[in-house]
Amino acid sequence: MPDSTPPSTIDPHDPGKGHPTIVVLDFGSQYSMLITRRVRELNTYCELLAPDTPRETVEKIDVRGVILSGGPGSVYDEAAPRAPAWVFELGVPVLGICYGMQLLAQQLGGRVGPGTEREYGPATIEREKENALLGGLPGSLEVWMSHGDRIEEMPPGFESVATSPNSPVAVMADLERGYYGLQFHPEVVHTPRGQDMLRNFVREICGTSGDWTAGQFIDETVAEIQEQVGDGKVICGLSGGVDSTVAAALIHRAIGDRLVCIFVDNGLLRVDEAEQVVKTAGQHLEMNVVHVAAEDEFLANLAEVTNPETKRVRIGNTFVRIFEREARKVEGARFLAQGTLYPDVIESARHGAGSAKIKTHHNVGGLPEDMDLELVEPLRFLFKDEVRRIGEALGLPREMVWRHPFPGPGLAIRVIGDVTKERLDTLRMADRIIAEETQAAGVYDDLWQCFGVLTDTKTVGVMGDYRTYGYALALRAVTADDAMTADWARLPYDVLARLSTRIVNEVPGINRVVYDITSKPPGTIEWE
Ligand code: XMP
Repeated sequence: MPDSTPPSTIDPHDPGKGHPTIVVLDFGSQYSMLITRRVRELNTYCELLAPDTPRETVEKIDVRGVILSGGPGSVYDEAAPRAPAWVFELGVPVLGICYGMQLLAQQLGGRVGPGTEREYGPATIEREKENALLGGLPGSLEVWMSHGDRIEEMPPGFESVATSPNSPVAVMADLERGYYGLQFHPEVVHTPRGQDMLRNFVREICGTSGDWTAGQFIDETVAEIQEQVGDGKVICGLSGGVDSTVAAALIHRAIGDRLVCIFVDNGLLRVDEAEQVVKTAGQHLEMNVVHVAAEDEFLANLAEVTNPETKRVRIGNTFVRIFEREARKVEGARFLAQGTLYPDVIESARHGAGSAKIKTHHNVGGLPEDMDLELVEPLRFLFKDEVRRIGEALGLPREMVWRHPFPGPGLAIRVIGDVTKERLDTLRMADRIIAEETQAAGVYDDLWQCFGVLTDTKTVGVMGDYRTYGYALALRAVTADDAMTADWARLPYDVLARLSTRIVNEVPGINRVVYDITSKPPGTIEWE
């Protein structure tokens, strides 16, 4: 994918959009994004910021509270990231989680030392003193501990308000200032009442009202798009996925027919998908859609390509070439829509451009700079599940909104080896059965993705009185919160059995089905 994306004109972090905001400071925990999502589930706007975020940025935000995330380090390491001074100067409540708690202790005048043993996993805490954070909750609570260091001396003004068998200070608090520290993770599902604690912090302690809703987001975003675009035209690449469809629907609501959607049908989609995209966007949403049937061009460029990365590059380049060709036909277009999401914004802020990538992910919409288009990115502050909620609020069909993510290079990276029309059709038949059966069994919505991979391994089988020699299909079904990590799904045996029977019986060329039981890491979700 050539580096041709035009620069965005917006700051990586929006200064809170004027909303009462909870700021999460990211000390590198794998759960930092999860904390941010959990707060937003409470209908309170929340931003994830780096610890070195300057005071000037923060002053533009209506900060009502700060959460210091966990992190992999030890607070007494020399290079340990610390909370900036503004955290304690804003006069707002602060919640420190694990590493964040130890920072609170250390930076406010207490003492932290190495624990004798690392405490990790389930534990029960007992409330020792009434406090707002645990208000309305039972005195004894299951929590998920994770810490190596321990508080040896609490800072002035703090007291222990809950203990666990291994932690005399499982929760510490300065009730006066609304400062709390937790030795455990309230954001993970293994702390069953964790969301109630976060609600207590966000509502009772920080005093936010929870008025950040889908309806409000839509109204504001529509107004912002109208302001940015004026009487200009916007081009949007439609892929059929949730992100580009929701982005297009928002922009369409803002500027109507001055949005032109370009749908490049690369022939690598699932059964009936191209028709569905055109139907949903063109008929249901009444958007202006240019449907480019480009299967032949893509397949010609993929001929005899077996290397996964070469496939991605060929597909990316072909896409850009076609998209550019079509975009140039849209007279007077000055803007390009992209379905960039908040995790992309955070990741690029965390690692900068050019960090090591395991797979190059092809994102729809890169265009040469000489086209001089300004980006419109209405989803850049949203997580995937929030995009779905917005999609529902915009009236998009349910099956579209809740469809599993689908990679840009499509089925080309699920056909191992040579990508031909025939092999794609074989995989499409299997893929349809997989979608039908998982939906019928009611497990589809619990999965992050489930799909087939057409391997290039031929195996011997027997059908009736005949010997068969066909391809093995690998079934992949995973659960995940985001695609950074994933686990193979424990699909019920009867669902697996039905899938295997139907695929082998109904799809010519496939005579064996195997189930992939590799988690990520060490595997990746896709095979290529
Ligand atoms: P992996 O295979 O890296 O996949 O574990 C993580 C998630 O990303 C999707 N994926 C892609 N998406 N272009 C995309 O737009 C790609 O090249 C690509 N490769 C993988 C994959 O489906 C999973 O959801």
